[in-house]
Amino acid sequence: MTIEQEKRLAGEAAAELVESGMLVGLGTGSTAAFAIRRLGERVREGLRIRGVATSRQTAELAGAVGIETMDIGQVERIDLTIDGADEIDPALNLIKGGGGALFREKIVAAASARLVIFADHTKLVPHLGAFPLPVEVNPFGWQLAATRIRGLGAKEVSLRRVADCAFVTDNHGYVLDCHFQQITNPADLADQLRRITGVMEIGLFIGMADLAVLGDGGSVRRIQPTPA
Ligand code: 5RP
Repeated sequence: MTIEQEKRLAGEAAAELVESGMLVGLGTGSTAAFAIRRLGERVREGLRIRGVATSRQTAELAGAVGIETMDIGQVERIDLTIDGADEIDPALNLIKGGGGALFREKIVAAASARLVIFADHTKLVPHLGAFPLPVEVNPFGWQLAATRIRGLGAKEVSLRRVADCAFVTDNHGYVLDCHFQQITNPADLADQLRRITGVMEIGLFIGMADLAVLGDGGSVRRIQPTPA
């Protein structure tokens, strides 16, 4: 089975966790797109839900498949958020933000009673950090933030670019991709990064996920967090 097929399997399995009446956080990325399309089918079959999108791209897809979305400012509590990830450790700490939506993804996840992450099996890793950690920063003086992140042990910190221009997030931020290689203490690193002036959000999601749903070969594996 290909990675794309595993993503689809996991995404569609996550979409089955959604029940009528729920307010659902809708993740961003290629795996999330499979879940959203499946949810759209379920809406056409009679499922009654509303969604909160984690990016403009997701809002567009949700609208296209017939899922009504609400602005985050209109909601107090989201019942369930389904989202992808770039890396998942056995405690279900995550690296997210490969698609640049980490800021909104974290706001939506933090407002959710339950966060379910779904991915292909390659995203489950013993330790976070091989995937460069995305950190969203204010464009003003981003170089200073980059220097301080290097001071925390990142081997390389690169400004994310699209063609020759800086990639700009939905919140008008820049993304620094920070190569830590192995993050031994994700919570500690998140604390230190948060203290850097100019950092808007960090792609480390610590202790937020309740369940991971992995496409693994032809089957779906469900993983509950185990203590780190
Ligand atoms: C976007 C994310 C995505 O969930 C993450 O990058 C995984 O993407 P994909 O499903 O395309 O592999 O965090 O900001």
